[in-house]
Amino acid sequence: EKGGYDHFMLKEIYEQPRAIKDTFRGRLLADQGIIRMAGIDQNLERFLNAKRIIIVACGTSWHAGLVAEYIFEDLARIPVEVEYASEFRYRNPVITENDVLIAISQSGETADTLAAIKLAKENGAFVFGVCNVVGSSIARETDAGAYTHAGPEIGVASTKAFTTQITVLTLLALKLAKEKGAFTESRFHELLTEIEGIPQKVERALESNTLIEIISEVYKDSTNFLYLGRGYNFPVALEGALKLKEISYIHAEGYPAAEMKHGPIALIDEQMPVVVIATKKGHYEKVVSNIQEIKSRKGKIIAIVTEGDTQVRELADHVIEVPESSENLSPLLTTIPLQLLSYHIAVMRGCNVDQPRNLAKSVTVE
Ligand code: M6R
Repeated sequence: EKGGYDHFMLKEIYEQPRAIKDTFRGRLLADQGIIRMAGIDQNLERFLNAKRIIIVACGTSWHAGLVAEYIFEDLARIPVEVEYASEFRYRNPVITENDVLIAISQSGETADTLAAIKLAKENGAFVFGVCNVVGSSIARETDAGAYTHAGPEIGVASTKAFTTQITVLTLLALKLAKEKGAFTESRFHELLTEIEGIPQKVERALESNTLIEIISEVYKDSTNFLYLGRGYNFPVALEGALKLKEISYIHAEGYPAAEMKHGPIALIDEQMPVVVIATKKGHYEKVVSNIQEIKSRKGKIIAIVTEGDTQVRELADHVIEVPESSENLSPLLTTIPLQLLSYHIAVMRGCNVDQPRNLAKSVTVE
């Protein structure tokens, strides 16, 4: 059932090229220059008239929501708020009929997310679900939705659910951006073609597995990790840190790289591995100077870079390459090495990767 892999998590990491492809298949019609998604097509006016999009989710799904915030605001120019469902439901939030609420949930059973949906519906918002499990409570409770076609995710640590959530949300944002006239036919076509090429690039990112295993060996006994990223890759840093905490029980924190100097920099010494996402597009030079700041305090740098990078290679202790992409799509690639890093470290520490202590696959109690 694990298809020859030692753990479900590893199998699911390797399924991502297929899962992403299944998620855009039949929806993304690059040659015709269209994105077809029934749940959106039938409710297009609600989306286009939305004064704001509120995204609610928990855990990894919340991180996918943060990536979506960048895409929606950047491309579709719709104001977005992203909230932990558990906070949203209890803080007496302002919700109106002009809001669209997007709930993201792999299992479709997360109690807090379900409660946030009910609250939004009571206040007249249009509620859209992004779920993986067909027929789940959230899928049934929402007004409309789009499934991620990741297939069953067994490992407690979410991997393919995350990248397929980002895929669905990217399609949604691009579709709305196109409807709003945000880009020319040719730019739209370019982006669609680039998405079609992502599964193959994920395949290439997976080829770093052996290198990541070697790096994991060096840091498996560390007691702390810092993850840094900027822009679209800030949520990826959060996700990388969550993955490590969850399955290896090493304390890890994700930060926007520029926030480092407002506190976390005090933690850096020769014992501290810092994973930095430093891909070419999007704030590259600024991230390079963040790396220099860490180096001068003797921190150890594990950098995720674009293929062929030379500048970061000179500074970092280790570099892991991912194929080049536009910044909007880079989270789908930069996430891969972080998943593998947490996986190998957890295995080397003898942890129960698929069923980490104290955690359940779906959190059906608040
Ligand atoms: O099923 P959901 O997407 O609603 O679950 C949300 C979180 O419980 C989940 O993402 C959790 O954080 C994962 N174990 C992270 O790997």
